[in-house]
Amino acid sequence: LADPSFSADVITWQKQHGRHALPWQNTRDAYRVWLSEIMLQQTQVAAVIPYYLRFLESFPTVASLAAAPSEEVMAHWSGLGYYSRARNLHKCAQTIVAEYGGVFPSDPELLEQLPGIGRSTAAAISAFSYGTRAAILDGNVKRVFARVFGVERYPGEKAVENGLWLRAVALLPESGVEAYTQGLMDLGATLCTRNRPSCQRCPLAHRCVAYATGRTNELPVRKPK
Ligand code: ADE
Repeated sequence: LADPSFSADVITWQKQHGRHALPWQNTRDAYRVWLSEIMLQQTQVAAVIPYYLRFLESFPTVASLAAAPSEEVMAHWSGLGYYSRARNLHKCAQTIVAEYGGVFPSDPELLEQLPGIGRSTAAAISAFSYGTRAAILDGNVKRVFARVFGVERYPGEKAVENGLWLRAVALLPESGVEAYTQGLMDLGATLCTRNRPSCQRCPLAHRCVAYATGRTNELPVRKPK
């Protein structure tokens, strides 16, 4: 499953064509990275940006967020949706202050134990903040992998998902995990879209099973009824 040319293709593309100026990039502040990753879990980049900037203006540090009244936190989230994210965010900030002295841990296994942080979000926070070699597998990356590897079963199925996690870990680069992780996210968001993917510009098209077999419209397969 390992193949260093896979991450090399993603990293080269990310450096030339990926996104480099999003408000939560170009920082290693784990608080900012964490905040952005939680907001981006179920909301698109364009919708997140103004919320992210306003949130940071009112709560510039994890300590200021932890100390804020819940009503104030919820008011800053109002309109973003999926409000359990905001409740978990506040709880998580309080845990970071109470148990970690206000510093996010770098170990993804510790991050994953915090409210609102699953395996993929833990890996993204750890990779972007600390350069930790940890694999992500969010919805966009599942779609990229399902197409590249020609996965013919529903990726939401546990056994299929476990197989994709094994691939995600095996494909991690030895170095440059930040550019690689951002590259996978950007590929999924900008080229390997659900509808009408831009395969002509994709750095993975030459190794993509779905592209080779004309099945980009069929993969990933939809949730079975
Ligand atoms: N979606 C989830 N995390 C992201 C990130 N860091 N940049 C862009 N889109 C994302």
